[in-house]
Amino acid sequence: MERANIETIIRNQSPPRVVKKFFSSSEVAELNELNEKLPITLHNKAQKAIKKRWLQGYNEKLDKIFVTRLKNEIGDFKFDMLKSEEGKDFFGLIQQCYLPLPTHTDTGFDLNDTIYKQTLIPLTPYGQTVIFKNRFYGVATFFTIDEKVLLEDSPNNTLNGRNRRSSAHIKPGETKKFDSEIHKKYLVHENIENLKGLEVEFIFDWSPGDMLIFDRSHLHAASSNINNFKTGIATFYKK
Ligand SMILES: [Fe+2]
Repeated sequence: MERANIETIIRNQSPPRVVKKFFSSSEVAELNELNEKLPITLHNKAQKAIKKRWLQGYNEKLDKIFVTRLKNEIGDFKFDMLKSEEGKDFFGLIQQCYLPLPTHTDTGFDLNDTIYKQTLIPLTPYGQTVIFKNRFYGVATFFTIDEKVLLEDSPNNTLNGRNRRSSAHIKPGETKKFDSEIHKKYLVHENIENLKGLEVEFIFDWSPGDMLIFDRSHLHAASSNINNFKTGIATFYKK
């Protein structure tokens, strides 16, 4: 099956950009308090990540600020997050990560969805997110040449909201080596062979309260620079 509405998706594409101080430092402090109060959704021991849902109603002022400012930045959108039990959208996944995420896309699980932008708001300083020029329009996927990891792939995975595993990011016979300086500086957790044919579009330096906005079709990865852990709010949108 192929992605529906691909023309619309491509028409809505734009370069990654950063909104400095989307949240002020006092608002970031409130977001951290909110994060403390929220229940843990998922403790992924393999990825060493703690995930929480930003549920509406814990801090109505922040809820309102987020949606209003977001509309200003990306125009009309729908949240592409699971809904809460009462059927309300939640505003993001607050992830506390101890290990850098490898190369992947957050392209969702339904090929009928018109994927749009995604945003990332760091709550901790230090570290980067690396966005590659390369794009992918299939469902959410981790990209790897590691045979062991590829064996974990199954089309049924996505039924449970789980990312696919694929090596489709590297074209057959690809010979273009990845930039070794960038690899050393930002991506030592990735086998450089797994980055063959990839080029960097943008490197986002984490600063609390800033917002990174980018198209959901971009392959991206966390940088290997983590100071114990990093916490950020990831949110996904569709049209
Ligand atoms: Fe991601």
